[in-house]
Amino acid sequence: MKPLRWGIGILILAVSVSYGTSGEIVSGTVKDPSGTPLMGAFVRMRNSARSKITVSVLSNKQGHYRFENVSPGDYSLWVSAVGYKSDPLANVTVAAGKPIARDFALQQGMVRWNDVSNAQARILLPDGKGKQAWFNQCFICHGFQSKVAGTHRNAQGWVSAVTFMRTAMHYNLALSLRDQDAAEVAAYLNDMFGTDSKVPQSPAALSGYKDTLRPFTDESMKIVYVDYDLPKANSFPFSATPDKDGKVWIPEFGRANRIGRLDAASGEIQEFSVPFSGTASVHSAVSAPDGTVWLAEQGSNRVGKWDPKTETITEYQAVYEAGKEGIGAGGSKHTTRIDPKGYVWTSGFPLTRLDPKTGKFTYYPEAAQAYSMDFDAEGNMWFTLSADSKLGKIGAKTGKFTFWPTPTPKSFPRRLELDHDGMIWIGEFDTGRLARFDPKTQTYKEWVLPGPDPTPYALGIDRNNQIWYSSHNQDVIGRLDPKTGKITEYPVPYPENTMKEFFLDAQGRMWFGSPPNNKVGYFTLPSGS
Ligand code: HEC
Repeated sequence: MKPLRWGIGILILAVSVSYGTSGEIVSGTVKDPSGTPLMGAFVRMRNSARSKITVSVLSNKQGHYRFENVSPGDYSLWVSAVGYKSDPLANVTVAAGKPIARDFALQQGMVRWNDVSNAQARILLPDGKGKQAWFNQCFICHGFQSKVAGTHRNAQGWVSAVTFMRTAMHYNLALSLRDQDAAEVAAYLNDMFGTDSKVPQSPAALSGYKDTLRPFTDESMKIVYVDYDLPKANSFPFSATPDKDGKVWIPEFGRANRIGRLDAASGEIQEFSVPFSGTASVHSAVSAPDGTVWLAEQGSNRVGKWDPKTETITEYQAVYEAGKEGIGAGGSKHTTRIDPKGYVWTSGFPLTRLDPKTGKFTYYPEAAQAYSMDFDAEGNMWFTLSADSKLGKIGAKTGKFTFWPTPTPKSFPRRLELDHDGMIWIGEFDTGRLARFDPKTQTYKEWVLPGPDPTPYALGIDRNNQIWYSSHNQDVIGRLDPKTGKITEYPVPYPENTMKEFFLDAQGRMWFGSPPNNKVGYFTLPSGS
Protein backbone atom coordinates (compact mmCIF):
# COMPACT_ATOMS: atom_id res chain seq x y z
CA MET A 1 0.00 0.00 0.00
CA LYS A 2 1.32 3.45 -0.84
CA PRO A 3 2.01 5.71 2.10
CA LEU A 4 0.81 9.30 2.18
CA ARG A 5 -2.36 8.32 0.40
CA TRP A 6 -4.17 11.03 2.25
CA GLY A 7 -1.52 13.60 1.53
CA ILE A 8 -1.19 16.36 4.02
CA GLY A 9 -0.69 16.41 7.71
CA ILE A 10 2.00 13.78 8.07
CA LEU A 11 3.65 14.21 11.39
CA ILE A 12 7.13 12.80 11.35
CA LEU A 13 7.94 11.52 14.80
CA ALA A 14 11.38 11.81 16.21
CA VAL A 15 13.05 8.68 14.96
CA SER A 16 12.80 5.54 17.03
CA VAL A 17 14.94 3.56 19.40
CA SER A 18 18.49 4.26 18.66
CA TYR A 19 18.40 5.78 15.24
CA GLY A 20 18.54 9.52 15.20
CA THR A 21 20.04 12.05 12.88
CA SER A 22 23.15 12.02 14.98
CA GLY A 23 24.48 9.73 17.64
CA GLU A 24 27.20 7.29 18.36
CA ILE A 25 28.44 4.16 16.71
CA VAL A 26 28.44 0.79 18.42
CA SER A 27 30.46 -1.72 16.45
CA GLY A 28 32.71 -4.74 16.66
CA THR A 29 33.46 -8.16 15.25
CA VAL A 30 31.80 -11.53 15.66
CA LYS A 31 34.05 -14.59 15.47
CA ASP A 32 33.26 -18.30 15.39
CA PRO A 33 34.88 -20.80 17.82
CA SER A 34 37.94 -21.12 15.57
CA GLY A 35 38.47 -17.37 15.66
CA THR A 36 37.32 -16.88 12.07
CA PRO A 37 35.08 -13.86 11.36
CA LEU A 38 31.46 -15.02 11.16
CA MET A 39 29.07 -13.62 8.59
CA GLY A 40 25.32 -13.56 9.14
CA ALA A 41 25.13 -13.38 12.94
CA PHE A 42 22.37 -11.14 14.22
CA VAL A 43 23.71 -8.62 16.71
CA ARG A 44 20.92 -7.11 18.78
CA MET A 45 20.62 -4.09 20.94
CA ARG A 46 18.06 -2.84 23.43
CA ASN A 47 17.89 0.43 25.29
CA SER A 48 17.06 -0.34 28.92
CA ALA A 49 14.58 2.54 29.04
CA ARG A 50 12.72 1.14 26.02
CA SER A 51 13.07 -2.54 26.66
CA LYS A 52 10.36 -3.70 24.26
CA ILE A 53 12.29 -2.40 21.26
CA THR A 54 15.07 -4.46 19.70
CA VAL A 55 17.38 -3.32 16.91
CA SER A 56 19.07 -6.08 14.92
CA VAL A 57 21.94 -5.80 12.47
CA LEU A 58 24.01 -8.51 10.77
CA SER A 59 27.73 -9.23 10.80
CA ASN A 60 29.31 -9.03 7.35
CA LYS A 61 31.98 -11.09 5.59
CA GLN A 62 34.66 -9.65 7.86
CA GLY A 63 32.49 -10.50 10.88
CA HIS A 64 31.98 -6.81 11.38
CA TYR A 65 28.74 -5.32 12.67
CA ARG A 66 27.79 -1.70 13.19
CA PHE A 67 24.92 0.23 14.79
CA GLU A 68 24.81 3.85 13.69
CA ASN A 69 23.25 6.92 15.28
CA VAL A 70 22.81 5.35 18.69
CA SER A 71 21.44 7.86 21.16
CA PRO A 72 23.08 8.08 24.61
CA GLY A 73 21.79 5.62 27.21
CA ASP A 74 22.24 2.18 28.72
CA TYR A 75 21.95 -0.74 26.33
CA SER A 76 22.16 -4.47 26.36
CA LEU A 77 23.90 -6.04 23.41
CA TRP A 78 23.88 -9.70 22.36
CA VAL A 79 24.36 -12.02 19.41
CA SER A 80 22.18 -14.77 18.03
CA ALA A 81 23.49 -17.06 15.33
CA VAL A 82 22.00 -20.41 14.34
CA GLY A 83 24.26 -23.23 15.52
CA TYR A 84 26.20 -21.15 18.04
CA LYS A 85 25.86 -20.40 21.70
CA SER A 86 25.36 -16.76 22.37
CA ASP A 87 27.71 -14.82 24.54
CA PRO A 88 26.00 -13.48 27.63
CA LEU A 89 24.47 -10.04 27.35
CA ALA A 90 26.94 -7.19 27.27
CA ASN A 91 25.82 -4.04 29.02
CA VAL A 92 27.10 -0.90 27.42
CA THR A 93 26.61 2.75 28.22
CA VAL A 94 26.60 5.01 25.21
CA ALA A 95 27.63 8.60 25.90
CA ALA A 96 27.93 11.51 23.51
CA GLY A 97 31.26 11.54 21.71
CA LYS A 98 32.21 8.02 22.81
CA PRO A 99 31.84 5.27 20.23
CA ILE A 100 31.62 1.77 21.70
CA ALA A 101 33.56 -1.25 20.46
CA ARG A 102 32.52 -4.79 21.52
CA ASP A 103 33.71 -8.02 19.99
CA PHE A 104 31.96 -11.35 20.35
CA ALA A 105 33.54 -14.82 20.32
CA LEU A 106 30.86 -17.47 19.85
CA GLN A 107 30.97 -21.05 21.08
CA GLN A 108 29.74 -24.05 19.18
CA GLY A 109 26.06 -24.72 19.80
CA MET A 110 23.33 -26.80 18.21
CA VAL A 111 21.03 -26.13 15.29
CA ARG A 112 17.54 -26.80 16.61
CA TRP A 113 14.42 -27.73 14.70
CA ASN A 114 12.87 -24.41 15.62
CA ASP A 115 15.76 -22.63 13.86
CA VAL A 116 15.00 -24.02 10.41
CA SER A 117 12.47 -22.76 7.87
CA ASN A 118 9.29 -24.49 6.73
CA ALA A 119 11.01 -25.24 3.42
CA GLN A 120 13.96 -26.91 5.17
CA ALA A 121 11.63 -28.91 7.41
CA ARG A 122 9.63 -30.14 4.43
CA ILE A 123 12.83 -31.49 2.87
CA LEU A 124 14.43 -32.83 6.07
CA LEU A 125 11.51 -34.38 7.94
CA PRO A 126 10.77 -37.93 6.78
CA ASP A 127 7.64 -38.65 4.78
CA GLY A 128 4.81 -40.25 6.65
CA LYS A 129 1.05 -40.26 7.04
CA GLY A 130 -0.15 -36.88 8.23
CA LYS A 131 2.84 -34.90 6.91
CA GLN A 132 0.99 -33.66 3.85
CA ALA A 133 -2.17 -32.66 5.75
CA TRP A 134 0.00 -30.92 8.34
CA PHE A 135 1.88 -28.88 5.74
CA ASN A 136 -1.28 -28.09 3.79
CA GLN A 137 -3.60 -27.13 6.64
CA CYS A 138 -1.45 -26.08 9.58
CA PHE A 139 1.04 -23.68 7.96
CA ILE A 140 -1.47 -21.03 6.93
CA CYS A 141 -1.43 -18.90 10.07
CA HIS A 142 1.86 -19.94 11.68
CA GLY A 143 4.74 -22.32 11.00
CA PHE A 144 5.94 -25.14 13.22
CA GLN A 145 8.95 -23.55 14.89
CA SER A 146 7.53 -21.84 17.99
CA LYS A 147 4.28 -23.74 18.51
CA VAL A 148 5.37 -27.25 17.58
CA ALA A 149 9.17 -27.82 17.46
CA GLY A 150 9.77 -25.43 20.31
CA THR A 151 7.53 -27.37 22.73
CA HIS A 152 7.48 -30.80 24.40
CA ARG A 153 4.39 -32.98 24.26
CA ASN A 154 3.62 -36.67 24.46
CA ALA A 155 1.17 -38.49 22.17
CA GLN A 156 -1.86 -37.31 24.13
CA GLY A 157 -0.44 -33.77 24.23
CA TRP A 158 -0.30 -33.67 20.42
CA VAL A 159 -3.86 -34.96 20.15
CA SER A 160 -4.95 -32.21 22.54
CA ALA A 161 -3.01 -29.54 20.62
CA VAL A 162 -4.64 -30.53 17.32
CA THR A 163 -8.07 -30.70 18.98
CA PHE A 164 -7.49 -27.27 20.49
CA MET A 165 -6.68 -25.84 17.06
CA ARG A 166 -9.73 -27.47 15.48
CA THR A 167 -11.90 -25.86 18.13
CA ALA A 168 -10.23 -22.47 18.40
CA MET A 169 -9.80 -22.17 14.61
CA HIS A 170 -13.03 -23.97 13.75
CA TYR A 171 -13.98 -21.35 11.15
CA ASN A 172 -10.82 -22.23 9.24
CA LEU A 173 -10.20 -25.94 9.83
CA ALA A 174 -13.78 -27.28 9.98
CA LEU A 175 -13.95 -28.14 6.29
CA SER A 176 -10.28 -28.73 5.55
CA LEU A 177 -9.17 -31.01 8.39
CA ARG A 178 -11.37 -34.04 8.92
CA ASP A 179 -11.16 -36.44 11.89
CA GLN A 180 -8.84 -38.91 10.18
CA ASP A 181 -6.48 -36.14 8.97
CA ALA A 182 -6.44 -34.70 12.48
CA ALA A 183 -5.52 -38.06 14.01
CA GLU A 184 -2.77 -38.57 11.42
CA VAL A 185 -1.38 -35.07 11.96
CA ALA A 186 -1.25 -35.61 15.74
CA ALA A 187 0.49 -38.98 15.28
CA TYR A 188 3.01 -37.50 12.85
CA LEU A 189 3.79 -34.60 15.21
CA ASN A 190 4.33 -37.08 18.01
CA ASP A 191 6.73 -39.10 15.84
CA MET A 192 8.68 -35.96 14.94
CA PHE A 193 8.56 -33.84 18.07
CA GLY A 194 7.10 -36.05 20.79
CA THR A 195 8.88 -37.43 23.82
CA ASP A 196 10.05 -40.44 21.75
CA SER A 197 10.95 -38.50 18.64
CA LYS A 198 12.10 -40.50 15.62
CA VAL A 199 14.29 -37.72 14.22
CA PRO A 200 17.68 -36.53 15.46
CA GLN A 201 17.56 -33.76 18.02
CA SER A 202 19.38 -31.48 15.59
CA PRO A 203 18.40 -31.18 11.90
CA ALA A 204 22.11 -30.50 11.22
CA ALA A 205 22.75 -34.18 11.98
CA LEU A 206 20.90 -35.08 8.76
CA SER A 207 23.06 -35.44 5.67
CA GLY A 208 20.91 -33.14 3.52
CA TYR A 209 20.99 -30.24 5.99
CA LYS A 210 23.81 -28.20 4.42
CA ASP A 211 22.13 -28.23 1.01
CA THR A 212 19.04 -26.60 2.47
CA LEU A 213 20.84 -23.41 3.59
CA ARG A 214 20.13 -20.27 1.53
CA PRO A 215 23.20 -18.50 0.20
CA PHE A 216 23.61 -14.86 1.24
CA THR A 217 25.96 -12.19 -0.02
CA ASP A 218 27.66 -9.37 1.84
CA GLU A 219 24.96 -7.09 0.45
CA SER A 220 22.34 -9.12 2.31
CA MET A 221 24.01 -8.17 5.59
CA LYS A 222 23.20 -4.48 5.25
CA ILE A 223 19.58 -4.68 6.35
CA VAL A 224 18.55 -3.21 9.71
CA TYR A 225 15.48 -4.44 11.63
CA VAL A 226 13.72 -2.73 14.51
CA ASP A 227 11.06 -4.77 16.27
CA TYR A 228 8.59 -4.29 19.11
CA ASP A 229 7.26 -6.88 21.55
CA LEU A 230 3.48 -7.02 21.95
CA PRO A 231 2.36 -6.49 25.55
CA LYS A 232 0.49 -9.81 25.90
CA ALA A 233 1.46 -13.37 24.90
CA ASN A 234 -0.09 -14.94 21.77
CA SER A 235 -1.27 -11.60 20.36
CA PHE A 236 -0.50 -12.87 16.85
CA PRO A 237 0.09 -9.42 15.31
CA PHE A 238 -0.78 -9.93 11.65
CA SER A 239 0.56 -6.63 10.35
CA ALA A 240 1.51 -3.12 11.37
CA THR A 241 -0.09 -0.26 9.48
CA PRO A 242 1.22 3.28 9.95
CA ASP A 243 -1.44 6.02 9.95
CA LYS A 244 -1.22 9.66 8.92
CA ASP A 245 -0.25 10.74 12.44
CA GLY A 246 2.66 8.34 12.71
CA LYS A 247 0.92 5.81 14.95
CA VAL A 248 0.99 2.18 13.86
CA TRP A 249 -2.15 -0.02 13.98
CA ILE A 250 -1.87 -3.70 14.73
CA PRO A 251 -4.56 -6.33 14.08
CA GLU A 252 -4.21 -9.03 16.75
CA PHE A 253 -5.30 -12.32 15.25
CA GLY A 254 -6.63 -15.59 16.69
CA ARG A 255 -8.30 -15.37 20.06
CA ALA A 256 -6.56 -12.12 21.01
CA ASN A 257 -9.60 -10.17 19.73
CA ARG A 258 -7.83 -6.81 19.91
CA ILE A 259 -6.20 -4.13 17.89
CA GLY A 260 -3.11 -2.34 19.12
CA ARG A 261 -1.86 1.19 18.58
CA LEU A 262 1.92 1.52 18.67
CA ASP A 263 3.88 4.64 19.40
CA ALA A 264 7.01 3.79 17.43
CA ALA A 265 9.26 6.18 19.35
CA SER A 266 8.48 4.90 22.85
CA GLY A 267 7.46 1.34 21.95
CA GLU A 268 4.26 1.72 23.98
CA ILE A 269 1.28 -0.22 22.62
CA GLN A 270 -2.27 0.58 23.69
CA GLU A 271 -4.85 -2.11 23.01
CA PHE A 272 -8.58 -2.04 22.28
CA SER A 273 -10.81 -5.12 22.40
CA VAL A 274 -13.55 -6.05 19.97
CA PRO A 275 -16.99 -6.93 21.40
CA PHE A 276 -17.02 -10.42 19.77
CA SER A 277 -16.10 -13.05 22.35
CA GLY A 278 -15.37 -16.12 20.20
CA THR A 279 -12.35 -16.37 17.89
CA ALA A 280 -12.57 -13.06 16.02
CA SER A 281 -9.18 -13.46 14.25
CA VAL A 282 -8.68 -9.76 13.56
CA HIS A 283 -6.82 -9.94 10.27
CA SER A 284 -6.35 -6.36 9.12
CA ALA A 285 -6.64 -2.86 10.64
CA VAL A 286 -6.29 0.37 8.65
CA SER A 287 -7.07 3.96 9.49
CA ALA A 288 -9.32 6.31 7.51
CA PRO A 289 -8.62 10.03 6.94
CA ASP A 290 -11.11 10.98 9.69
CA GLY A 291 -9.12 9.01 12.30
CA THR A 292 -11.46 6.03 12.51
CA VAL A 293 -9.78 2.64 12.24
CA TRP A 294 -11.45 -0.20 10.34
CA LEU A 295 -10.73 -3.81 11.03
CA ALA A 296 -11.57 -7.10 9.38
CA GLU A 297 -12.53 -10.07 11.58
CA GLN A 298 -11.93 -13.30 9.73
CA GLY A 299 -13.37 -15.60 12.39
CA SER A 300 -16.62 -13.74 13.08
CA ASN A 301 -17.27 -12.38 9.57
CA ARG A 302 -17.53 -8.87 11.02
CA VAL A 303 -16.07 -5.49 10.21
CA GLY A 304 -15.14 -3.35 13.21
CA LYS A 305 -14.93 0.41 13.53
CA TRP A 306 -12.69 1.99 16.16
CA ASP A 307 -13.95 5.43 17.08
CA PRO A 308 -11.20 7.92 18.02
CA LYS A 309 -13.57 9.86 20.32
CA THR A 310 -14.77 6.96 22.45
CA GLU A 311 -11.78 4.68 21.75
CA THR A 312 -14.18 1.75 21.46
CA ILE A 313 -15.00 -0.67 18.66
CA THR A 314 -18.42 -1.18 17.05
CA GLU A 315 -18.94 -4.28 14.89
CA TYR A 316 -20.96 -4.86 11.73
CA GLN A 317 -22.00 -8.46 11.12
CA ALA A 318 -22.00 -9.69 7.51
CA VAL A 319 -24.33 -12.54 6.58
CA TYR A 320 -23.15 -16.10 5.97
CA GLU A 321 -23.97 -18.28 3.01
CA ALA A 322 -26.86 -20.54 4.08
CA GLY A 323 -25.60 -23.84 5.51
CA LYS A 324 -22.10 -22.46 6.14
CA GLU A 325 -22.73 -20.33 9.22
CA GLY A 326 -19.62 -19.84 11.32
CA ILE A 327 -17.37 -21.25 8.60
CA GLY A 328 -14.82 -19.03 6.84
CA ALA A 329 -15.78 -20.32 3.40
CA GLY A 330 -19.37 -19.26 4.11
CA GLY A 331 -18.36 -15.72 5.06
CA SER A 332 -15.19 -14.11 6.35
CA LYS A 333 -13.36 -10.80 6.33
CA HIS A 334 -9.73 -10.68 5.34
CA THR A 335 -8.09 -7.39 4.29
CA THR A 336 -9.54 -3.89 4.65
CA ARG A 337 -9.05 -0.86 2.43
CA ILE A 338 -10.93 2.43 2.39
CA ASP A 339 -11.76 3.96 -0.96
CA PRO A 340 -11.52 7.66 -1.81
CA LYS A 341 -15.25 8.09 -1.09
CA GLY A 342 -14.91 6.58 2.39
CA TYR A 343 -16.49 3.18 1.69
CA VAL A 344 -14.88 0.33 3.62
CA TRP A 345 -13.95 -2.59 1.39
CA THR A 346 -13.07 -5.99 2.73
CA SER A 347 -11.74 -8.99 0.88
CA GLY A 348 -12.56 -12.51 2.01
CA PHE A 349 -15.57 -14.69 1.27
CA PRO A 350 -16.86 -12.71 -0.66
CA LEU A 351 -15.60 -9.21 -1.42
CA THR A 352 -17.83 -6.70 0.41
CA ARG A 353 -18.25 -2.95 0.68
CA LEU A 354 -19.55 -1.36 3.86
CA ASP A 355 -21.25 2.02 3.80
CA PRO A 356 -20.11 3.63 7.07
CA LYS A 357 -23.15 5.93 7.09
CA THR A 358 -25.77 3.18 6.94
CA GLY A 359 -23.76 0.21 8.26
CA LYS A 360 -25.01 -1.82 5.26
CA PHE A 361 -22.87 -4.28 3.33
CA THR A 362 -22.91 -4.70 -0.45
CA TYR A 363 -21.82 -8.22 -1.45
CA TYR A 364 -19.91 -9.00 -4.65
CA PRO A 365 -20.38 -12.66 -5.58
CA GLU A 366 -18.30 -11.94 -8.71
CA ALA A 367 -15.32 -11.95 -6.32
CA ALA A 368 -16.32 -14.94 -4.22
CA GLN A 369 -12.88 -15.38 -2.62
CA ALA A 370 -10.95 -12.13 -2.87
CA TYR A 371 -7.55 -11.96 -1.21
CA SER A 372 -5.82 -8.59 -1.53
CA MET A 373 -6.84 -5.28 -3.03
CA ASP A 374 -5.94 -1.65 -3.62
CA PHE A 375 -7.05 1.40 -5.59
CA ASP A 376 -5.27 3.11 -8.47
CA ALA A 377 -5.09 6.87 -9.11
CA GLU A 378 -8.41 6.81 -11.02
CA GLY A 379 -10.18 5.00 -8.19
CA ASN A 380 -10.36 1.63 -9.96
CA MET A 381 -10.16 -1.24 -7.52
CA TRP A 382 -7.69 -4.04 -8.20
CA PHE A 383 -7.83 -7.36 -6.41
CA THR A 384 -6.57 -10.93 -6.48
CA LEU A 385 -8.70 -14.05 -6.54
CA SER A 386 -6.31 -16.57 -5.06
CA ALA A 387 -8.17 -19.86 -5.54
CA ASP A 388 -9.12 -18.88 -9.12
CA SER A 389 -5.61 -17.55 -9.89
CA LYS A 390 -6.96 -14.30 -11.31
CA LEU A 391 -6.34 -10.59 -11.15
CA GLY A 392 -9.54 -8.54 -11.08
CA LYS A 393 -10.58 -4.93 -11.50
CA ILE A 394 -13.73 -2.99 -10.69
CA GLY A 395 -14.01 0.10 -12.91
CA ALA A 396 -14.35 3.31 -10.87
CA LYS A 397 -16.94 4.84 -13.19
CA THR A 398 -18.66 1.76 -14.57
CA GLY A 399 -18.60 -0.60 -11.58
CA LYS A 400 -17.79 -3.28 -14.18
CA PHE A 401 -15.70 -6.32 -13.26
CA THR A 402 -12.83 -7.41 -15.53
CA PHE A 403 -10.62 -10.45 -14.92
CA TRP A 404 -7.24 -11.60 -16.19
CA PRO A 405 -5.77 -15.03 -15.39
CA THR A 406 -2.37 -14.83 -13.67
CA PRO A 407 0.54 -15.51 -16.03
CA THR A 408 1.21 -18.95 -14.53
CA PRO A 409 -1.82 -21.15 -13.87
CA LYS A 410 -2.62 -22.34 -10.34
CA SER A 411 -0.41 -19.61 -8.94
CA PHE A 412 -2.53 -18.73 -5.88
CA PRO A 413 -1.87 -14.98 -6.03
CA ARG A 414 -1.89 -13.44 -2.56
CA ARG A 415 -0.85 -9.82 -2.11
CA LEU A 416 -1.24 -7.07 -4.67
CA GLU A 417 0.51 -3.68 -4.69
CA LEU A 418 0.53 -0.71 -7.06
CA ASP A 419 3.89 0.83 -7.87
CA HIS A 420 4.80 4.46 -8.52
CA ASP A 421 4.21 4.00 -12.28
CA GLY A 422 0.70 2.60 -11.84
CA MET A 423 1.78 -1.00 -12.50
CA ILE A 424 0.03 -3.76 -10.58
CA TRP A 425 2.30 -6.25 -8.77
CA ILE A 426 1.15 -9.61 -7.52
CA GLY A 427 2.92 -12.33 -5.57
CA GLU A 428 2.24 -15.76 -7.07
CA PHE A 429 2.50 -17.83 -3.91
CA ASP A 430 2.22 -21.38 -5.20
CA THR A 431 4.39 -20.89 -8.28
CA GLY A 432 7.05 -18.73 -6.60
CA ARG A 433 7.00 -15.74 -8.90
CA LEU A 434 6.32 -12.02 -8.91
CA ALA A 435 4.18 -10.73 -11.74
CA ARG A 436 3.74 -7.16 -12.97
CA PHE A 437 0.61 -6.22 -14.90
CA ASP A 438 0.59 -3.15 -17.11
CA PRO A 439 -3.00 -1.82 -17.16
CA LYS A 440 -2.34 0.09 -20.41
CA THR A 441 -1.15 -2.83 -22.50
CA GLN A 442 -2.88 -5.45 -20.35
CA THR A 443 0.23 -7.60 -20.42
CA TYR A 444 2.32 -9.23 -17.72
CA LYS A 445 6.01 -9.53 -17.04
CA GLU A 446 7.13 -12.20 -14.59
CA TRP A 447 10.16 -12.85 -12.38
CA VAL A 448 11.02 -16.28 -10.98
CA LEU A 449 12.10 -16.04 -7.35
CA PRO A 450 15.10 -17.95 -5.98
CA GLY A 451 15.04 -21.04 -3.78
CA PRO A 452 13.12 -24.32 -3.67
CA ASP A 453 9.94 -22.84 -2.15
CA PRO A 454 9.90 -19.02 -2.54
CA THR A 455 6.21 -18.61 -1.55
CA PRO A 456 5.94 -14.80 -1.79
CA TYR A 457 3.52 -13.57 0.87
CA ALA A 458 3.86 -9.98 2.10
CA LEU A 459 4.53 -7.54 -0.75
CA GLY A 460 5.75 -3.94 -0.52
CA ILE A 461 7.13 -1.27 -2.83
CA ASP A 462 9.69 1.12 -1.43
CA ARG A 463 10.45 4.73 -2.33
CA ASN A 464 12.86 3.59 -5.05
CA ASN A 465 10.28 1.35 -6.73
CA GLN A 466 12.06 -1.76 -5.47
CA ILE A 467 9.72 -4.68 -4.87
CA TRP A 468 9.99 -6.43 -1.50
CA TYR A 469 8.45 -9.78 -0.65
CA SER A 470 8.57 -12.09 2.33
CA SER A 471 9.06 -15.76 1.64
CA HIS A 472 6.62 -17.62 3.86
CA ASN A 473 8.43 -20.95 3.70
CA GLN A 474 12.07 -19.92 3.27
CA ASP A 475 12.28 -17.45 6.15
CA VAL A 476 13.88 -14.72 4.06
CA ILE A 477 12.72 -11.46 2.62
CA GLY A 478 13.71 -10.54 -0.90
CA ARG A 479 14.09 -7.40 -2.95
CA LEU A 480 13.60 -7.28 -6.71
CA ASP A 481 15.00 -4.46 -8.79
CA PRO A 482 12.57 -4.51 -11.72
CA LYS A 483 15.01 -2.57 -13.94
CA THR A 484 17.82 -5.12 -13.72
CA GLY A 485 15.92 -8.19 -12.56
CA LYS A 486 18.38 -8.58 -9.69
CA ILE A 487 16.96 -10.24 -6.58
CA THR A 488 18.67 -9.92 -3.19
CA GLU A 489 17.60 -12.15 -0.32
CA TYR A 490 17.98 -11.03 3.30
CA PRO A 491 17.85 -13.15 6.47
CA VAL A 492 14.91 -12.46 8.79
CA PRO A 493 15.64 -11.67 12.44
CA TYR A 494 13.66 -14.61 13.87
CA PRO A 495 12.63 -17.95 12.39
CA GLU A 496 8.94 -18.40 11.46
CA ASN A 497 8.65 -14.83 10.25
CA THR A 498 5.29 -15.49 8.51
CA MET A 499 4.96 -11.81 7.60
CA LYS A 500 1.58 -11.29 5.99
CA GLU A 501 1.68 -7.74 4.69
CA PHE A 502 4.15 -4.85 4.27
CA PHE A 503 3.31 -1.18 4.74
CA LEU A 504 5.69 1.66 3.91
CA ASP A 505 5.63 4.70 6.19
CA ALA A 506 6.43 8.34 5.51
CA GLN A 507 10.04 7.80 6.53
CA GLY A 508 10.58 4.92 4.10
CA ARG A 509 10.44 2.23 6.80
CA MET A 510 8.77 -1.01 5.72
CA TRP A 511 6.48 -2.30 8.51
CA PHE A 512 5.52 -5.91 9.15
CA GLY A 513 4.00 -8.18 11.79
CA SER A 514 5.52 -11.52 12.77
CA PRO A 515 2.53 -13.25 14.39
CA PRO A 516 4.11 -16.33 16.03
CA ASN A 517 7.02 -14.22 17.32
CA ASN A 518 4.54 -11.82 18.90
CA LYS A 519 6.34 -8.86 17.36
CA VAL A 520 5.81 -6.08 14.88
CA GLY A 521 8.64 -4.13 13.33
CA TYR A 522 10.15 -2.48 10.32
CA PHE A 523 13.25 -2.81 8.21
CA THR A 524 15.40 -0.28 6.42
CA LEU A 525 18.52 -0.26 4.28
CA PRO A 526 21.19 2.37 4.84
CA SER A 527 20.86 5.00 2.11
CA GLY A 528 22.83 4.17 -0.98
CA SER A 529 22.42 0.38 -0.73
C1 HEC B 1 -6.52 -20.12 11.24
C2 HEC B 1 -5.18 -19.99 11.79
C3 HEC B 1 -4.51 -21.23 12.34
C4 HEC B 1 -4.44 -22.48 11.79
C5 HEC B 1 -4.99 -22.94 10.45
C6 HEC B 1 -3.70 -23.29 12.71
N1 HEC B 1 -3.32 -22.57 13.79
FE1 HEC B 1 -2.28 -23.26 15.42
N2 HEC B 1 -2.48 -21.45 16.30
C7 HEC B 1 -3.11 -20.35 15.77
C8 HEC B 1 -3.17 -19.30 16.77
C9 HEC B 1 -3.78 -17.92 16.56
C10 HEC B 1 -2.54 -19.81 17.93
C11 HEC B 1 -2.41 -19.12 19.30
C12 HEC B 1 -3.58 -19.68 20.06
C13 HEC B 1 -3.95 -19.07 21.34
O1 HEC B 1 -3.42 -19.49 22.37
O2 HEC B 1 -4.84 -18.23 21.32
C14 HEC B 1 -2.13 -21.16 17.60
C15 HEC B 1 -1.49 -22.02 18.49
C16 HEC B 1 -1.05 -23.30 18.19
C17 HEC B 1 -0.38 -24.19 19.11
C18 HEC B 1 -0.01 -23.86 20.55
C19 HEC B 1 -1.16 -24.27 21.41
C20 HEC B 1 -0.86 -24.08 22.88
O3 HEC B 1 -1.17 -24.98 23.64
O4 HEC B 1 -0.33 -23.02 23.24
C21 HEC B 1 -0.14 -25.35 18.44
C22 HEC B 1 0.57 -26.57 18.97
C23 HEC B 1 -0.66 -25.19 17.12
N3 HEC B 1 -1.22 -23.94 17.00
C24 HEC B 1 -0.62 -26.16 16.14
C25 HEC B 1 -1.39 -26.13 15.00
C26 HEC B 1 -1.64 -27.29 14.15
C27 HEC B 1 -1.05 -28.66 14.37
C28 HEC B 1 -2.46 -26.86 13.16
C29 HEC B 1 -3.10 -27.69 12.09
C30 HEC B 1 -3.98 -28.73 12.57
C31 HEC B 1 -2.71 -25.45 13.37
N4 HEC B 1 -2.06 -25.05 14.50
C32 HEC B 1 -3.46 -24.65 12.51
C33 HEC B 1 -3.62 -20.23 14.50
C34 HEC B 1 -3.79 -21.29 13.62
